[in-house]
Amino acid sequence: MLVLGIETSCDETAAAIVDESARVRSDVVESQVAVHAPYGGVVPELAARDHLRHVQPVIREACARAGTPLSTVDGIAVTCRPGLSGALLVGVQVARGLAFALDKPLVGVDHLVGHLLSAFLRYPDMLAAEPPAFPFVALLASGGHTALYRADGPDPSQMRELGATRDDAAGEAFDKVAKQLGLGYPGGPVIDRLAREGDPDRIELGWPMASRRSLEFSFSGLKTNVARYVERHGRPGDDQNLRDLCAAFQRRVVDTLVKKTMTAAEQNDVHTIVIGGGVAANRELRERAGAAAAKRGLRLVVPPLRACTDNAAMIAYAGLARLARGENDARSLETSPNTALPRVTRKGRGRRVAC
Ligand code: KG4
Ligand code: ZN
Repeated sequence: MLVLGIETSCDETAAAIVDESARVRSDVVESQVAVHAPYGGVVPELAARDHLRHVQPVIREACARAGTPLSTVDGIAVTCRPGLSGALLVGVQVARGLAFALDKPLVGVDHLVGHLLSAFLRYPDMLAAEPPAFPFVALLASGGHTALYRADGPDPSQMRELGATRDDAAGEAFDKVAKQLGLGYPGGPVIDRLAREGDPDRIELGWPMASRRSLEFSFSGLKTNVARYVERHGRPGDDQNLRDLCAAFQRRVVDTLVKKTMTAAEQNDVHTIVIGGGVAANRELRERAGAAAAKRGLRLVVPPLRACTDNAAMIAYAGLARLARGENDARSLETSPNTALPRVTRKGRGRRVAC
């Protein structure tokens, strides 16, 4: 079975073809980073327009790289939530049009479910990689989302949100701090690089949502503390001060992410942890999460970077099971800026839907 995945929820236009064994036959991503860079963050209107420009060439390229004409795919999976309204509409409208014209089944996929399943993707150069075992706890940290989940199985009904950020996502905090420091967009990679040569303990910035038991995050206070430092001391030049500030900021974000992920694993009595989202590219996060997991005898699974960041292979894979069961949303598929993943209340009793 071959599934075409389409992803346009934020600032990547992506299409991919994945088969029933999770093998990635093609994976094409057209990034809009250059479009949004002058603004220091994603501009929704520009994102939608850029998706419109690229979505067809990207789908064509995904078919060409897989050596599969569009007419031979068995079904289509498209991200329908959460995301930017205009951006989501482009992908869903194209997917509905293709499903109608080719008479193929179509299913809508929650982008976060795609991220949670991305560790199962099998790329041609890593077919032997061992996928995570259920149940696992997953940390998803990107520019748009930062949350912890428990996954008991591959179906969305088996996934629960354990805690999420109350304000900025971790990647968003990296991007906003980089903007304050005049480091360009996206901020994560450049702060990651500068922090390697900095002293994380020289500048005091406070600790974000340090309570050990809580699985909620908050990064806006830390971002404000960096702004106050800049107000008081001026924007650091290209010097050791800048590297120390980046190291101090990054250490606090990474430490918070790692501690809360370990707490979630402990509270949920799971032996496997998965980390995904663009922030999973961060070297310090990978190293510290690896060390913390090893200390506790837990298995840490960090998918390859191309699977951590936004892509359509994870969307194709997340839609595969429903398509294989013969389900079809083609006539009714709509978009929603919110996610539908249920959330465990703070005391762990009862559930409410996070919207
Ligand atoms: O998952 P992603 O590609 O797109 C979405 O946000 O959905 O994540 C992009 C985010 C950006 O905020 C970027 O600054 C951050 O991931 N990022 C990093 C690193 N590389 C990318 N953050 C910290 N360290 C990095 N090395
Ligand atoms: Zn994402």
